[in-house]
Amino acid sequence: MKKNVGSQLALYPTPAVVIGAMNGEKPTWTLAAHIGIIGHDRVLVSLAAAHFINGAVKESKRLSINMVDEGILPQADYSGSVSGTKTDKSALFAYEVGKAGTPLIKKSPLVMECQVVDIYQSPGFESFICTLSNTYVEEEHLDEAGTINYHTLKPILFEFPTYEYLKTGEVIGKCLSFKNEEPV
Ligand SMILES: Cc1cc2nc3c(=O)[nH]c(=O)nc-3n(C[C@H](O)[C@H](O)[C@H](O)COP(=O)(O)O)c2cc1C
Repeated sequence: MKKNVGSQLALYPTPAVVIGAMNGEKPTWTLAAHIGIIGHDRVLVSLAAAHFINGAVKESKRLSINMVDEGILPQADYSGSVSGTKTDKSALFAYEVGKAGTPLIKKSPLVMECQVVDIYQSPGFESFICTLSNTYVEEEHLDEAGTINYHTLKPILFEFPTYEYLKTGEVIGKCLSFKNEEPV
């Protein structure tokens, strides 16, 4: 028997990423896990409207998504614990500016430069709808065909109910490899 636990936000785990934006000459960084995929050419980043980074994102109309692995987790976690309104987070990560003008964390294994094309407003939140300008991946996580290897990349996942970080698990099968099996 399943118990109805009310209208609980339970769609976890999701990848934890550091959102970056240029705030004038300097970058600012904010940890986010409320992110999503829209179609095949857009992603969504949902940020509380009061966050410091939102102003920089709206001003530049750009943001970067920096995948978090175990190596940068301590700094990534810190970026989610203090606000740029009180603390300058610009020196938190070594970074370079990508072709599309967003700050990219050097030690992140996979980074994406995004263009903000729309903002979906909901009470207290601004969800940035973005197209993808460039994706950069550490070569050690690319196979010979150029496919990203998430087994070696090992993105960190997040879940809200216990407020914990998780590692990705084991492979249990190829997608669409179950289609000839009888449904249970
Ligand atoms: C694991 C984790 C995940 C978070 N995910 C989000 C998120 O998806 N959206 C959001 O608005 N804030 C999220 N936060 C909170 C912000 O990262 C945090 O409030 C941050 O200090 C805001 O920084 P800023 O004001 O400099 O932008 C998360 C924090 C943690 C620790």
